Amino acid sequence: MRVLIVGCGYVGLELGRQWVARGAFVAGVRRSSAGAGELTTAGLATVTGDVTRREEVLAWPGDWDVVVNAVSSSRGGAEVYRQIYRDGTRHLLEWMAGASVGRYVQLSSTSVYGQTDGGWVDEDSATEPNSETSRLLVEMEEVLRRAHSGNGTSTVILRVAGIYGPGRGHQLQQLLRGEARIQGDGSRWVNMVHRDDVASAVRTVAEAPLTSVAGRVFNVVDDEPVPQGEFVTWLAHEYGKPVPPVASEEENAARKRGLTHKRVSNRRLRTETGWIPTFGTFREGYRLLSGGAGGSPVLLDLHP
Ligand SMILES: NC(=O)c1ccc[n+]([C@@H]2O[C@H](COP(=O)([O-])OP(=O)(O)OC[C@H]3O[C@@H](n4cnc5c(N)ncnc54)[C@H](OP(=O)(O)O)[C@@H]3O)[C@@H](O)[C@H]2O)c1
Repeated sequence: MRVLIVGCGYVGLELGRQWVARGAFVAGVRRSSAGAGELTTAGLATVTGDVTRREEVLAWPGDWDVVVNAVSSSRGGAEVYRQIYRDGTRHLLEWMAGASVGRYVQLSSTSVYGQTDGGWVDEDSATEPNSETSRLLVEMEEVLRRAHSGNGTSTVILRVAGIYGPGRGHQLQQLLRGEARIQGDGSRWVNMVHRDDVASAVRTVAEAPLTSVAGRVFNVVDDEPVPQGEFVTWLAHEYGKPVPPVASEEENAARKRGLTHKRVSNRRLRTETGWIPTFGTFREGYRLLSGGAGGSPVLLDLHP
């Protein structure tokens, strides 16, 4: 199996490691040769290039069973999203049209669901987010859908929840610094997934029979959304810290814009592909890491 991982960062590198351990030939794209050492250590070949630069992408080697796009905006704003997800995806599609690629897996985000009523959302729910960056992801998904039905590029879209795992995140970092807060009344749902389960979800859809996944969308999230207040309280107990105070009205007002309130279902991925998360809930993921077995403390991104 030959795999190209475009955007070989936190998830991409772990994905590469998992595939290399199973005997695949894996290459990872980095923007500069500075990252090549990390890839070599993980057993990956390196392809250099920037998805926002058409000529660089068109010069990449072809003949891949799977191409995975795990490029992130590196916390950039709408302009970076436009360059990465709109222009970059177009460049990749143009390259793939002549590159002999079996299937293309795109990592998107559960932030495309703008719902605020606290109900469950699945892949058929409306994608009408309030934020411009999430709207750009919806636009990218639409471009991929058109490419799939138009020129036969077999695409699979994965909408990924907030990723946590070794060395990554925000909420726990805040807790450890004594800066965490229970937001509002603490009831806003948090949807998350462990990095290793994102990687296994990508492998699952990349290795599933093409007819069962091509042209489809799957949510990648663990089994249990949790209210934000319950989550930080649990973290505080687990890490031996005081339960965080409730945020002030000013803090809540500053945070409120663009926030969603929804529970994201993984039912389709679980039932239709057989994917089973190793870390079914945040408790398993955080307990392992806080117990020292996973090395550095786990840290969480909550942006979706
Ligand atoms: N983190 C989350 O909570 C979260 C939630 C939902 C969805 N996602 C999605 O999941 C995917 C993986 O996220 P991650 O946390 O693993 O991201 P990450 O650690 O930030 O890694 C992203 C990689 O993208 C590469 N990259 C950035 N701009 C690029 C460009 N113009 N051309 C080529 N490569 C470029 C970076 O390459 P260099 O190292 O060469 O700079 C980096 O290796 C992304 O698509 C992200 O949007 C993440």
